Amino acid sequence: MKKIGLIVGSLRKGSYNRLVLEKVKELFPEGYEADFIEIGDLDHYNEDLDNENPPESYVRFRKELEEKDAFVFATPEYNRSIPGVIKNAIDVGSRPYGESKWDGKFAGVISTSISATGAMAANHALRQTFVFLNLIPMQQPEAYLSEIESYIEEGQLSSKTVDLLKEFVDAFVKHVERLS
Ligand SMILES: Cc1cc2nc3c(=O)[nH]c(=O)nc-3n(C[C@H](O)[C@H](O)[C@H](O)COP(=O)(O)O)c2cc1C
Repeated sequence: MKKIGLIVGSLRKGSYNRLVLEKVKELFPEGYEADFIEIGDLDHYNEDLDNENPPESYVRFRKELEEKDAFVFATPEYNRSIPGVIKNAIDVGSRPYGESKWDGKFAGVISTSISATGAMAANHALRQTFVFLNLIPMQQPEAYLSEIESYIEEGQLSSKTVDLLKEFVDAFVKHVERLS
């Protein structure tokens, strides 16, 4: 069984990125278990806290990361970059130095925006962190969901969007299997 962690870069209850990952969760085939890893309760990363007595939120998050083989992130763009909450989660998971929980695992990135750019700047800013983390990104297909509000019908993603997500998940499964 391969274990996938789903990480949303928005804390909003009505988050479109969460809606997207809820669908992604359903699209993984047999042999895969995809679960959300929450980041909203994580204390701001502080090396002093970590050295003295790591907060319970760091310990919980790192344990959940450790159990996963791969991650799918869905993030909005805030001011042409990633929201602070997702960067904080990346940083917490990367420490203590030499004990990063991201090292050598697989990652897929979806970015979702209400605007026309599909949060491409955030998508790429997140990928930039993967270089040092040694997360192995799926490069293709890229997933930029632009003007997401026009692809939601009665609170559900349109079938066209679900088809795109299915393509993304199928490619991600191949990525994980090819390199495992
Ligand atoms: C502080 C802030 C900054 C934002 N900056 C951008 C931006 O740079 N580019 C963009 O496409 N959308 C931007 N947005 C709009 C988001 O795309 C929109 O709020 C989106 O729905 C957030 O994702 P969510 O639905 O998952 O919360 C910004 C929103 C906020 C709150």
